[in-house]
Amino acid sequence: MLVTPFLHEVRAARWAEPGLTWGLVPTMGALHEGHLSLVRRARAENDRVGVSIFVNPIQFNRPEDLASYPRQVERDCELLAAEGVDVVWTPSEAEMYPPGYQTYVTVEEITRPLEGAARPGHFRGVTTVVAKLFNVFQPTRAYFGQKDAQQAAVIRQMVRDLAFNLEVVVCPIVREPDGLAMSSRNLLLKADERRAATVLYRALKAAEAAWQGGQRDAEALRATMRAVLAGEPLARVDYVSAADPVTLTELDGAATHVLLSMAVFIGQVRLIDNLVLGGEGSP
Ligand code: PAF
Repeated sequence: MLVTPFLHEVRAARWAEPGLTWGLVPTMGALHEGHLSLVRRARAENDRVGVSIFVNPIQFNRPEDLASYPRQVERDCELLAAEGVDVVWTPSEAEMYPPGYQTYVTVEEITRPLEGAARPGHFRGVTTVVAKLFNVFQPTRAYFGQKDAQQAAVIRQMVRDLAFNLEVVVCPIVREPDGLAMSSRNLLLKADERRAATVLYRALKAAEAAWQGGQRDAEALRATMRAVLAGEPLARVDYVSAADPVTLTELDGAATHVLLSMAVFIGQVRLIDNLVLGGEGSP
């Protein structure tokens, strides 16, 4: 496995065998089973697998969030070697954004609600770094997790709009046995917060139970989730949403398919989770 901070070495490895298919898994490190599920899928579907580990400063809108983001590159590389990854790119900030850097990628409408509204500039940072990763690795397929549902939708939109020659593969959320969605941020939770953090999944499951009981009203689904979250003293709701799974616009009235999502602070740690009901719908 080649581990390198240098862009030119990744490019050289990518083009050493031009006929092969490549899967790319972009990450910010602190890898967990969720990331490894993407890596395994990439391993199964491609001749070569590349992973990037880069805590991308321009997608953080809170400096304290960037500073506290867990970093454990050596351990990450051990995990990736065990999965049979071929190339790991670990660029420095100066390698990714050299002095004088001034090009950014902005996707418009679908970046405005939800995470976009709560975290100004976040998606501009994500699409800029992902576009650069696509240019460097030129992957056949790129793998993202459904946990960041809006990120996946935004990247799909960017790939369509800018005609990137690759397939975006979105993989299911991987959960802890108690339902908490796996996230690098979970490492930051104290013991009581870790227990409280299951409230996100419990809120989603309550809305799912209501849906299964015939409830289709979007506001009623949001109210069900808010009621469960209100029962957890350590939880502070950032947003709760029942939106169209394709356009991400908030729904009113009866839904045929819906993306339920939420962002909730548990102590200082901001967690997100989501669930799609009634299928994704078509773009
Ligand atoms: O999902 C993430 O970890 C990041 O947003 C990504 C896609 C690696 C871009 O920095």
